[in-house]
Amino acid sequence: MNPIEQALTLLKAGKLVAIPTETVYGLGADARNTDAVKNIYLAKGRPANNPLIVHIPHLDALKEWAIDIPDIAYQLAKAFWPGPLTFILTRHPSVPKIVTGGQESIAIRIPNHPVTLELLRRFDGGIAAPSANRYGRISPTTTEHVRTELGARVNYILEGGACLLGIESTIISLLDDTPMILREGSISATDLSAVLKQPILTKQQKQEPSEIQNDLIVPGSHISHYAPITPLYLCQQEKFLDTVLKFFRNHKRLCALSFSVQANELSENGVPNDLIAKWIMAIENPVMYAQKLYAYLHDFDATNSDCILIESPPDTEAWAAITDRLQRAALSMLD
Ligand code: TXA
Ligand code: MG
Repeated sequence: MNPIEQALTLLKAGKLVAIPTETVYGLGADARNTDAVKNIYLAKGRPANNPLIVHIPHLDALKEWAIDIPDIAYQLAKAFWPGPLTFILTRHPSVPKIVTGGQESIAIRIPNHPVTLELLRRFDGGIAAPSANRYGRISPTTTEHVRTELGARVNYILEGGACLLGIESTIISLLDDTPMILREGSISATDLSAVLKQPILTKQQKQEPSEIQNDLIVPGSHISHYAPITPLYLCQQEKFLDTVLKFFRNHKRLCALSFSVQANELSENGVPNDLIAKWIMAIENPVMYAQKLYAYLHDFDATNSDCILIESPPDTEAWAAITDRLQRAALSMLD
C-alpha cells in the first residue's frame, strides 16, 4: 500500500493521521466521525470548546459543511484556494458539533499541498485537523516535529516534506457583512481587501505582557500559544545587544535569533562560547523567515538552554503574522 492509500484506510477506520499542508502539519481525522474527532482533542490535550478546521477537497464541497455562504466567500475562494486562508462560516446542521467546539460557526479551508489534496479527493469527505502539536506548543513543520511531539498518539504520519509557508493559515470570519481577520497569516488584510474591494477588519490581539521577576522563570509555568518549553523573550532591536549581554552576565546559556548582532560580537564582549547554545542570524525576508521560524524554535528547545532571545522584526504588515506568533510564544516583551 502506498502512503496515501494507507492514510486513506486509517482515516476511514476512524484513526488519526498527521497530514502535510503548505502551512503546518495537521492532526487529521474524519470530520463526520464523532469518536475520531474526540480523539483529536484527547491526543492534543486540547479543550473541547476550541474548534477545529475542516479541510475539504474542492470548492463544490463547501456547501456540505456551511450554510448561508456569502458571495464574498466564493470571491475569496477563487482568489486564494487552495491556500492558507480559513473561512469562518455558519455550520451546516449535519456537521457534528464536536468539530466546531459546540459553536454554530465552522472553520473551513482547502489546503495547498499535493499529497493532502490527493488524499482529500480520494477520501471524498472532510478532514478535521488542528495543527499536529500538543495544546499550546509550537506547530510542527516537518514529520520529525510531529513524531517528537505526538509519538504514539498519532496512528500514521503522512510524509509531505517541510512545510513551504511555515505558519498557520490566515483566519477570516465571513459571518458579518464586514469580514474580520481572526488570526493573521501569509495572506494579509491588504491581499484580502484587494480582492473584495472593501475594508477588512483586524481583530487586534489584546495581550498583557506577563511580569518578569529578575530573569528567573520556571519553564512551562506560563499559559501561552505557539510556545517552546524554554522561556522565550522578544527584545527591541535597539536594546538587543545590551539585553543579551545582561543575560550572559547572569550566566544564562541561551539561544538567539537576531537580525543585528553577530555571534562574534559576543566573543569580543567577553562572552564565553559555552553560554551560546545556538545563535542564528535572522533572514530579512518575512516569507523565508516564517518558513524557518518553528523549526528554529524546535531546535532551540532541543538545546535545553536557559532561555531564547529573539530580536523583534520590523513593525510592518509583511511581518504582522510573524510578530503575532512571536508575541504569543514570548513570556515577555523586553524593551
Ligand atoms: O494552517 C492552519 O490553519 C493549520 C493547518 C493544519 O490547516 N491548522 C491550524 O489549526 O492551525 P488550529 O486548530 O491549530 O488553529 C485553528 C484556530 C484555533 O485557534 C481555533 O480556535 C480557531 O482556528 N477556530 C476554529 N474554528 C473556529 C470558529 N468556528 N470560530 C472561530 N475560531 C475558530
Ligand atoms: Mg494550533
